Amino acid sequence: MRRFALFPLVVAVAACGGGPVPAAAPTWHQDIAPLVERSCSGCHQPGGIAPFPLTTLEQVTKLGAAVRAAVEAKRMPPFLASNDCTDYVDDPSLSQAEIATLGKWFDAGAPEGVAGTAVNRLEQAGGLTRVDLSLQMPVDYVPHGTDDYRCFVIDWPHQTTKYVTGFRAKPGNASTVHHVIGFLIPPDRVAAYQQLDEAEAGAGYTCFGGAGVPNDRGISWVGAWAPGGAGNMYAEGTGLTVKPGSKIVVQVHYNSRTENPGSDRTTLEMALADEVRHKAVLTPFTNPDWPRGMGMEIPAFQKEVTHTWGLDPTPYLGLMTNGLLPSNQAMKIHMTSLHQHLLGTRNRLSIKRADGTHECLLDIPQWDFHWQRNYQFTRAKVLKPGDQLVISCSWDNSAENQPVLGGAKQLSRDVKWGENTTDEMCLGVVYVTE
Ligand code: HEC
Repeated sequence: MRRFALFPLVVAVAACGGGPVPAAAPTWHQDIAPLVERSCSGCHQPGGIAPFPLTTLEQVTKLGAAVRAAVEAKRMPPFLASNDCTDYVDDPSLSQAEIATLGKWFDAGAPEGVAGTAVNRLEQAGGLTRVDLSLQMPVDYVPHGTDDYRCFVIDWPHQTTKYVTGFRAKPGNASTVHHVIGFLIPPDRVAAYQQLDEAEAGAGYTCFGGAGVPNDRGISWVGAWAPGGAGNMYAEGTGLTVKPGSKIVVQVHYNSRTENPGSDRTTLEMALADEVRHKAVLTPFTNPDWPRGMGMEIPAFQKEVTHTWGLDPTPYLGLMTNGLLPSNQAMKIHMTSLHQHLLGTRNRLSIKRADGTHECLLDIPQWDFHWQRNYQFTRAKVLKPGDQLVISCSWDNSAENQPVLGGAKQLSRDVKWGENTTDEMCLGVVYVTE
């Protein structure tokens, strides 16, 4: 697009008999501002999760070298999935061409250009386009410490079955909300979560790996959000079933930079439908032995441990989805996420086809517990009977890589699956339909 926009100018100059035309330097207004707005300002804004704002020319040039370095090293924007794997909706990453444009702009002295010349406003792809239901945390909560994982139980207001067709979270206090996961608790599982809520003093209860009840296979995610995200509409014509009497448990990870970040009251926003063409399920995928404490040993002091497991899930689809999807049929995977804890270094989810070829769904070469989110494919993946879904996770359990908890560096020890901060997981979550 940009090349065509410049074409008349090039012709005009050439017609005047000039020499070789220097490629026009990118300018702030024309090239850089739209890029920063799409990929940086969502977090780098006053009161945002990032430590400083990046919205104006002055702010970007003041930190010029740091900005350039962070972008060229692909540390920023934080998007963990490898782009060599597949394409995702709502991917804020800068393309190689965009990174080059930014470099050229800095080299040219960061020219401002003329306001109103933005060639293409880069809208963030995806985004929740309709809000039919807003569910607020029932109480204000004052987070403490750098890593405070807190769960809150929220009533589901509808008296008839509804389908969730899109999700995002709106932090009440953007300077401390680091990620938000909504769990869907079906009516017959609600009591266990209410007990947790009542057992602990203060608002909500502490939870870390999940919604708080260990290995509760009856629950699934309703959505997940990380800073900078505009939320997403689930694949056209699909939605997650919510029965009357259900509850939503929202897990908020608070990561405060200051001693007193103030209180938070986060809101979940959802798009709903009364009917959908394809009922979807956000279902966990892992080796069933691992949560039982078998086969996922991570011995003390081992620097590199990898566990890999694959299965053709189609014969068990009915079981895995409480009967929502039929067994022994092809399924479509629209969205996925992967989950490890603090020792995790790398994870990957792929389909091993019956013919032996592999198709990558998600590859996170540098796992970071702090940046969890959903990855929605631009085109759904089809898994047929005979194909395997393969999950693989790596950990670093060396003495150097131990987390600092409560101010103290932990000692390396044998680690297995568990819900605690110092336990580990290797869990995929897939959003699937028939
Ligand atoms: C999803 C939220 C998010 C987005 C989007 C984001 N940042 Fe950041 N950024 C952060 C946070 C949080 C930090 C603080 C350090 C950390 O946690 O990594 C940070 C730190 C930085 C730093 C200093 C540390 C470093 O790694 O160099 C720079 C420079 C930076 N960001 C630039 C950018 C630029 C440029 C963009 C857009 C191309 C961007 N960021 C997009 C959240 C974000």
